[in-house]
Amino acid sequence: MTEIDRSPSCCPPGPVSPPPEQEAAVAAARGPEAAVFCGPEAAVSRRPEAAVSRGPEAAVSRGPEAAVSCGPEAAVSRGPEAAVSRGPEAQWFGFRAVDPAAKAGLVRSVFESVAPSYDLMNDLMSGGIHRLWKAWLIDMIEPAPGHLLLDVAGGTGDIAERFLDRGGGGVVVCDLTESMVRVGRDRALDRGRLTEVTWVVGDAERLPVADRSVDVYTIAFGLRNVTGIDRALAEAWRVLKPGGRFFCLEFSKVVVPGLAALYDRYSFSVLPWMGRVVARDEAAYRYLAESIRRFPDQETLARRMEAAGLARVRYQNLSAGIAAIHSAWRL
Ligand SMILES: C[S@@+](CC[C@H](N)C(=O)[O-])C[C@H]1O[C@@H](n2cnc3c(N)ncnc32)[C@H](O)[C@@H]1O
Repeated sequence: MTEIDRSPSCCPPGPVSPPPEQEAAVAAARGPEAAVFCGPEAAVSRRPEAAVSRGPEAAVSRGPEAAVSCGPEAAVSRGPEAAVSRGPEAQWFGFRAVDPAAKAGLVRSVFESVAPSYDLMNDLMSGGIHRLWKAWLIDMIEPAPGHLLLDVAGGTGDIAERFLDRGGGGVVVCDLTESMVRVGRDRALDRGRLTEVTWVVGDAERLPVADRSVDVYTIAFGLRNVTGIDRALAEAWRVLKPGGRFFCLEFSKVVVPGLAALYDRYSFSVLPWMGRVVARDEAAYRYLAESIRRFPDQETLARRMEAAGLARVRYQNLSAGIAAIHSAWRL
């Protein structure tokens, strides 16, 4: 595992201070396009009493234990769209050129299709290695009881579950695709996790989460799918408390030349084949391979994180750069 320290100083700031209470995070919708909260009929919010908001009128959600309330100041969240323009990734979907306005819908349809077999495919495709990467991510996070995690593109809740298993306080999982959230919510309920996770359908570019409300922000294998990476990073900065930590686990650029060629062959032949046989969706797994190739390399992503205001940016390569964890602070 390689660690590249890009921070100007060798000493990280002190530990993230636990929030005085498990307050806040999911705030008012910014509009219907944010697909903010599923109502009870969508069975996505896991606590009946949590009163997760269902629309703009429900700007302030209730339930002190739910970690989903927000103060009035949170009710008007400002999206980054005014200030941050989208990068080139807005115009491609895998190797295909697309209208930026269409990209989120295309991504959503991929994950709607693969949701039922998503967890199985992850294990098959990576030979289980994604579990080691995620375990390493959780080691880096060092969950603590007072910490509220926002797991963006949280899908079926892998990171949420590991964070809680390791002593984290509470989690808001926010994902663009309702089917992924449903699979995760159902699995969490089956495992008896009734109260610690709040499930929200929303976009990383317009998080339905209050300013400065979370201790830790994670995005695992999600950032390469968003329409505007810089907007998502700006949102991460906005929702983190000062002193909060940012972590991105994502496929990255292989740093061993011989391996890169092998990995390419695997990605463009074996993955689509597995997708066809197991998930019955070859195109979705071709998109996976293409989106990995399109994603910025380690240094480029680090620079974009800094441009978004995140501080002390570092990254670690995993499995020779097949994946990398970028970490940073909001100071
Ligand atoms: C490859 S899955 C990763 C799921 C989970 N984090 C994991 O590590 O297993 C990518 C997830 O990103 C979500 N996603 C894609 N674009 C998104 C966006 N703009 N905002 C929020 N979630 C998004 C998808 O719905 C999907 O669940």
